[in-house]
Amino acid sequence: MKYLVLGASGAVGRACVRTLLGREDAHVVAAGRNLPRLEREWRAYGAGSPDTVRVDLDEPGSVDAALAGPAGPVDVVVNCAGPSYRYSAPTAETALRHGARYVDAGGDQALIDATAAAAEKHGALAVFGAGVQPGLAGVAVRAVAARLADPATTEIHAHCGGVQPLSRAGLDEYLHAVRARTGHPGKIYQRGALHTLPPDSGMAVPAAFPGTARAHVSLDEECRAAAEELGLAALWWGNITGSVPIEQALSRALGQERTHTETLRAIDAAVSGARPYFRISLQGTAGHGTSRQATVRVRTVLHCADSYALTGAVAALAALEDPRGRTGAVWMSEYVDARRFWDRMATDVPGVSLVLDTAPAASLPEPSEPAEKSGQFEEGEL
Ligand SMILES: NC(=O)c1ccc[n+]([C@@H]2O[C@H](COP(=O)([O-])OP(=O)(O)OC[C@H]3O[C@@H](n4cnc5c(N)ncnc54)[C@H](OP(=O)(O)O)[C@@H]3O)[C@@H](O)[C@H]2O)c1
Repeated sequence: MKYLVLGASGAVGRACVRTLLGREDAHVVAAGRNLPRLEREWRAYGAGSPDTVRVDLDEPGSVDAALAGPAGPVDVVVNCAGPSYRYSAPTAETALRHGARYVDAGGDQALIDATAAAAEKHGALAVFGAGVQPGLAGVAVRAVAARLADPATTEIHAHCGGVQPLSRAGLDEYLHAVRARTGHPGKIYQRGALHTLPPDSGMAVPAAFPGTARAHVSLDEECRAAAEELGLAALWWGNITGSVPIEQALSRALGQERTHTETLRAIDAAVSGARPYFRISLQGTAGHGTSRQATVRVRTVLHCADSYALTGAVAALAALEDPRGRTGAVWMSEYVDARRFWDRMATDVPGVSLVLDTAPAASLPEPSEPAEKSGQFEEGEL
């Protein structure tokens, strides 16, 4: 199988290419707009370097030319170039027109809806949100729900985030998402509807996170879609920020008090003074039948130091999945087998560790127990 990875010089694209290069049956072509720089970077990587091709997404016809020319024909186009709101729609359309499967690390519901017709027309599949959030966030919700027998009584409390640097495309994407009001800040999902929490109501931070972490209630489109499709009783989602200086830098960027470059510099400085970490933590409980009394509990925590490397690996693993004849446009989290995909984070992605406990509700300790805080989830442990 031949894979064309766009944005192969970026934080996500590099990890995606590396993961694909580890597969014997994958022919990998790395694409970037600065070919000499890309070739230098991958030569330095050493044995098993990918082929390279120049693609500039600001030049109309550049992806077409690569797919019709030296890089083509391609089985899967993996788009790790960003920001996604600028490049994904035309790139997906071009890939699908060439009969390739399309996998994108970014994307939102509007993009999925806009791509669905082209995917059906060309009898191909477009997979969006092949990353962490969106991506593993939705996978984790589905994986926990799959372990609890009764969705109608299943309540999930989730937290995701940490202290991470921000890439240039990541900053662009964040500012765009906040300004375009994608997602549901301040809301939770409960019995078929979204509910707004009072502005000052916080969400407790589980002991899987260091004491400096703060949770902001916010449900994204992907997790809302999962909760609705599964018919969950409730889904609470807290985005974790682990550093006050990073929060301040982002709020100044939103207020246009700082340029992108100044914001990225401020965030780099904040990260270098801290220990980077990233975690996704979920706790699900379910009763039996109509009982509201929780009888089963599932708790899972994923840890890693670099969420961009994790995103690139996830994009590669999604690209390696067998589509089994599926067509259309979907979230990655509804495309993969969530339970299996979540479990393989422990074995298939270097630098990631996963804790997963399933037990009768009474036999698992509360997640906020101080004992756990001083145990295996200490900040910087990875
Ligand atoms: N789902 C998730 O959890 C998640 C997490 C992180 C990122 N993402 C998404 O992944 C994408 C990449 O993010 P990143 O963190 O890797 O950002 P990044 O480090 O800033 O990399 C962006 C990449 O896009 C390339 N690019 C930008 N403009 C281009 C153009 N006109 N033509 C060709 N290539 C171009 C850049 O090439 P140059 O090196 O030449 O600038 C670079 O390779 C973004 O869409 C982001 O939203 C998703």
